[in-house]
Amino acid sequence: MPKCGESETRDAIGAASDAWGAWRAKTAAERGSLIAGLAGLMRRDTDRLAELMTLEQGKPLAEARGEIAYALSFLDWSAEEAKRVYGDVVPASAPDKRILALRQPVGVTAIITPWNFPSAMITRKLGPALAAGCTAVVKPAEDTPLSAIAIGELAVEAGFPPGVINIVTGDPRAIGGAMLDDERVRKISFTGSTPVGRLLMEQASKHLLRLSLELGGHAPFIVFEDADMDRAVESAVACKFRNAGQTCICANRFYVHESVHDRFVERFGAAMEGLKVGNGMGEGVNIGPLINDAGIEKVEEHVADAVSKGAKVVRGGRRASVEGCVDRFFQPTLITGMTPDMRVATDETFGPVAPVAAFSSEEEVVRLANDSEYGLAAYFFTDNASRVMRVSETLEYGIVGVNDGGPSTAQAPFGGVKHSGLGREGGKYAMDEYTELKYVSWRL
Ligand code: SIN
Repeated sequence: MPKCGESETRDAIGAASDAWGAWRAKTAAERGSLIAGLAGLMRRDTDRLAELMTLEQGKPLAEARGEIAYALSFLDWSAEEAKRVYGDVVPASAPDKRILALRQPVGVTAIITPWNFPSAMITRKLGPALAAGCTAVVKPAEDTPLSAIAIGELAVEAGFPPGVINIVTGDPRAIGGAMLDDERVRKISFTGSTPVGRLLMEQASKHLLRLSLELGGHAPFIVFEDADMDRAVESAVACKFRNAGQTCICANRFYVHESVHDRFVERFGAAMEGLKVGNGMGEGVNIGPLINDAGIEKVEEHVADAVSKGAKVVRGGRRASVEGCVDRFFQPTLITGMTPDMRVATDETFGPVAPVAAFSSEEEVVRLANDSEYGLAAYFFTDNASRVMRVSETLEYGIVGVNDGGPSTAQAPFGGVKHSGLGREGGKYAMDEYTELKYVSWRL
């Protein structure tokens, strides 16, 4: 891969800046049609792109295919939404005046994306940015540049004018520094860790950049006594083990009512037995490797810490060896007896570990769930309609799954509160992130 640094990033920003005038001048239908064209090429090349992703990132091939479908759904949606970026005509304060509120593109947008969803996190930002009339400089994660380059190649084939989409791979500090330092960049959209998000926010103050930050999470998954147990178990497996647990919105801590705790643990453990750990290219594999050594070491530390504080490992708890592959696989792990002082109860594990604690009342579990610096996603399972509204409103999270462990979809607002970030991605809401309101006061 090219190891780009400061000067290549400045060149890319220059290209995006030069291309901006002509790109924003296109009609929404023209921009939408190019974006839809890129989606169509990704659809055509799904198998190739998915294979590349599995080889590069490790997730099982079926999940990689799912991610390509997810990724192109953001482009499909944005291509349509380009035509609906409306302004307002506001009743004026004098008979000879008119007040217009125009929506205009913010300008050159820097897009910084993570390795866990190497394609979808790009298109979730790029789609609405392009639809709004912005041009973009994309810096993919160092672990997964190939998936980004593949999207760039398809953008060329789709006919995007030069400079509208730029991809810089390489040194994150040099690239990020150049993005933050260049007045031509008007906006940064970042998905990644909370510490890096905080740093970007500090440094973005220099040019008062607009920011969208999708940061860490520590999702509670609550099973009330009246929950449909089949659905709770099935959702727990899907939500916890997607991408081997390397997902910002995956369940990190499970709270189960004391009256159904043992039944849930038994059923959850039995369901985990069916999960196959292995090479993502292999048939029927559900859990691939973790992304790097630091990733798997952190998972081991979390399990050891929990055990040293009294937790019991019910299943898994160790690395899994997969013949012919790197030593970076971890067994799907179920732990009981989680207490608030354990790292699994407070820090993102980003691995296939499910720690469980019992609770006795709704009030107690909502307090436990909200006792976190994070506020990205939370899940709860109940058949009580009043509780659905009460708990949904009280949970301090940007996304709440009610009897649903898989809320991600292109048309919904995705994002967090507290240390999980700022802004929303997805649906019509994403367009606000890439447009400025201009007030025109017109005296007739
Ligand atoms: C993420 O982990 O940041 C994204 C997950 C999703 O979009 O479902």
